[in-house]
Amino acid sequence: MSTSSQKIAVVTGASSGIGAVYADRLAKRGYDLVLIARRTERLQSLAAKIARTHGVKVAPMIADLETEAGQASIEQFLSNNSAVSVLVNNAGIARLAPISDGPLQDSLSQIALNITALTRLTHAVLPGLKSRNEGLIINVSSVLAVNSLPISSVYSGSKAFVLAFSRGLQQELANTGVRVQVVLPAATATEVWDRSGVPLAALAPESVMSTEDLVDAALSALDKGENISWPSVADTEVIERFESARLALFATSQTGKVAPRLLPA
Ligand SMILES: NC(=O)c1ccc[n+]([C@@H]2O[C@H](COP(=O)([O-])OP(=O)(O)OC[C@H]3O[C@@H](n4cnc5c(N)ncnc54)[C@H](OP(=O)(O)O)[C@@H]3O)[C@@H](O)[C@H]2O)c1
Repeated sequence: MSTSSQKIAVVTGASSGIGAVYADRLAKRGYDLVLIARRTERLQSLAAKIARTHGVKVAPMIADLETEAGQASIEQFLSNNSAVSVLVNNAGIARLAPISDGPLQDSLSQIALNITALTRLTHAVLPGLKSRNEGLIINVSSVLAVNSLPISSVYSGSKAFVLAFSRGLQQELANTGVRVQVVLPAATATEVWDRSGVPLAALAPESVMSTEDLVDAALSALDKGENISWPSVADTEVIERFESARLALFATSQTGKVAPRLLPA
C-alpha cells in the first residue's frame, strides 16, 4: 500500500469498533483520513487523537448513511475528490431477531446501511479510482454471509450481498490497479452486539476476537494478497474446499436439463 500522506483513506462507521481501528491503522500507514459516522463527539475526539498520534490530517464527516441525504452527501464527496485512494465500507448494523417478531423498519435499516450505502459509495468512488488506475476498496462482510440463523435472515442476507458484490467487483477490476478486499469477521468485541438485541456478554468469551486483532489480521491478509479474508479461520484448506465446492456447484448447474431426480415419475 502507498504511504504517501497526500492520499486519503475514507472509513465509514469509524466512530467505534472495527472502523475506529481501521482509521488508526490506515493513519499509521501514512494516509490522511476522512472518517464518517453519526456520533459527532466521538468522531471528533477520535479524529483529534489519530491526528495527534500519527501526524496525518483527519477530517470527521457526520452523515447518517441509512438516509438518502447522508448517502448522497458522501457520494458527492467521493466522486469529487481525486485524493481518495482507499474506501473502507465498514459501517453496518445488525438487528438480530426473527422476522416475524421484528419491526419492518429494522430490516429496512439493515438493507439501507449494509447494502444500499455500501453500493452507492462504491459506485461513487470507482470511476475516479479506475481513471487513476490505483486504489483499494475494503468491504466488511461477516462470516454470517455464508450462514443464516433464525435471527439473522436480513443481516446474513446483507452480508452475503457484500461477499457476492465484492467477488464480482474483484473480477470486474482484475486487470486494473484497483483492488477490492472483502473481510469476513466472526464475533468481534464491539458495540454492534449490544445494539443488535444479542448482548456481547451472552457470547462465549473465547469465541470473541478483539477489534485490534481483527483489523491487524485483515490488513496482514491484505499485505499477503488475500482478497477474501477470513481472519479467524486457521485451516486454509477449509476455505479452499469451500471455494472449489462453490465453483463446482455453479459449473454443474450449467446443463440446460432438469436434474433426473426431478423428472416426472
Ligand atoms: N462485531 C462483530 O462481531 C462483527 C462481525 C462481523 C461483521 N461485523 C461488521 O463490522 C462492521 C463494523 O461494526 P462493529 O462491529 O465495529 O460495530 P460498531 O462498533 O457498532 O460500529 C458500527 C459503526 O457504524 C456506524 N454507523 C451505524 N449506523 C450508521 C449510520 N446510519 N450512518 C453512518 N454510520 C453508522 C457507527 O457509528 P454511529 O453510531 O456514530 O453512526 C459505528 O461507527 C459492520 O459492518 C458489522 O456488520 C461485525
